[in-house]
Amino acid sequence: MVAFTARAHTNIALLKYWGKVDQQLIIPTTTSISLTLDEFYTETTVEFDPALPNDQITLDQQPLKEKDRHKISIFLNLIRTQAQINTFARVQSVNHVPTAAGLASSASAFAALAGAGSAAAGLNLSQADLSRLARQGSGSASRSIFGGFVQWDRGTDHQTSVAHPLQENVDWPIQLLTVIVSDQPKKINSRGGMQNAMQNSPFYQNWVERSNGLVKPMQTAINQHDLATLGTIAEQNALEMHAQNMVANPPFFYLTDISWQIINLVQDLRQSGLQVYATMDAGPNVKIISHPDDTPTIKSALFKILPEISIQVATPGPGLTVWQNGAAHA
Ligand code: PMV
Repeated sequence: MVAFTARAHTNIALLKYWGKVDQQLIIPTTTSISLTLDEFYTETTVEFDPALPNDQITLDQQPLKEKDRHKISIFLNLIRTQAQINTFARVQSVNHVPTAAGLASSASAFAALAGAGSAAAGLNLSQADLSRLARQGSGSASRSIFGGFVQWDRGTDHQTSVAHPLQENVDWPIQLLTVIVSDQPKKINSRGGMQNAMQNSPFYQNWVERSNGLVKPMQTAINQHDLATLGTIAEQNALEMHAQNMVANPPFFYLTDISWQIINLVQDLRQSGLQVYATMDAGPNVKIISHPDDTPTIKSALFKILPEISIQVATPGPGLTVWQNGAAHA
């Protein structure tokens, strides 16, 4: 059968997804909003081949560990069922999301796999259907189907829990500086962390209500190109997500001393008049939302307190592209 390749970019949530009402289908408790990033992406090629005795999967030319291979095979089963085929697949994935970038690659990985896998199986899915499919691999992957600012409606079932673009072409100045605190694998992955918070935080319901209440103000900030409001809401939402983890019983923490030093610096820079805001996911790295003109000032302030730190700059990026192997890539 024909091989297809897909490229999907990773995304950073400005309003976080942190908990699900349906573990199997991945239906979240909150609507989330993200920004897709240009610099970091995954490229995946899929070919279904009747000669294969099982799924053969490589990531960066290395065979996957059994646990990860199993996860991908389960995802491929969704595609096989829909396409009514039972052939195994050859999957070659290359990550352009440096592990050290501290950005989750599962969003770009499952979005690219959904795109290449469905095309290789002969399915011609709409973008919304690709988002629904990618969501079942990793919640945040539902948003990586689209470029720019994207909203994942929490919905109530498989059909209604789907992402859509809010602003695909971001033609106003906004960027994300990723400050690498640690490139070590996190102790509690996002799946386990959100489950813990949901079950063990006394304020979890409050988080759900507050987060869903921030959707409209965030949409307005995006529409009005209002970096200050967007950043203020994003920082507040990220801190509230981390607060859930800190007050869970037992508590757990993703942020380290260094993360807090950076968050404090962001506040100091803001007090000095800069539009800089912090957001953090299921790990210690801090992402700084800012105006591109302020990059030199922010970088030199960071290097002053943390000379060893590494910083990556990311700008708004495009949605999923899929092409047949051998055909020209637009
Ligand atoms: O999609 P997952 O299972 O990797 O979870 C993502 C969770 C956060 O990154 C913390 C928030 C988000 O909305 O991306």
